Amino acid sequence: MSSGTPQGVVSQYGIGIDIGGTGTKGGIVDLTTGQLVGERFRIPTPQPATPQAVAGVVRQIVDELQSRPEAPAPDSHVGIVFPAIIKNGVALSAANVDKSWINTDVDALMTETLGREVEALNDADGAGLAEAHYGAGRGKEGLVMVITLGTGIGSAMILNGQLVPNAELGHLEIDGHDAETRASAAAREREQLPWKKWATKRLQRYFSHVEFLFSPSL
Ligand code: BGC
Repeated sequence: MSSGTPQGVVSQYGIGIDIGGTGTKGGIVDLTTGQLVGERFRIPTPQPATPQAVAGVVRQIVDELQSRPEAPAPDSHVGIVFPAIIKNGVALSAANVDKSWINTDVDALMTETLGREVEALNDADGAGLAEAHYGAGRGKEGLVMVITLGTGIGSAMILNGQLVPNAELGHLEIDGHDAETRASAAAREREQLPWKKWATKRLQRYFSHVEFLFSPSL
């Protein structure tokens, strides 16, 4: 805690929000360790997941987190990850959210909605950066890849600690299919695949191909 920090406001904490195709989640994070502080808070992503509707949900989540005793400073930046290509804060795709997100300035919309600074980036890139800074990829030389399995498949590539943003490897075409339609967690649920079949057939096919293409160190 810095000497200028008001009592009860812990400066090493920050708020992080994950907008997903199905649920929008938020939590307070200890930025020195990357650990969640307290419970995460989740609200189902509104359908249709339009920018205005989702911004309203993000606002509700931030308000709830900010009301907790362990909340960070009310003007601290909020990190927001979004399931699309994000370039300079602007969404350039929309695979599992409403198409009206394309060309929406996520950074500007959320900054205005929350009345505080926002850093927006692709969801898998956020997971990858976290893994590289706090997790299994910490200090690892070479190419680290993180693949997220949810409504879609997200991918992050970190080379010698540096993120190569917006890799979009969930959309590799494998056996004539957009890979995420066969191997995501949502595909497993949709097709009611047993865990073993999903892991040994769908995921293994996907990971073998990614491994062949990139030969990651981790
Ligand atoms: C999107 C990616 C996203 C991933 C995980 C994919 O459908 O194209 O941008 O990272 O889903 O949410």
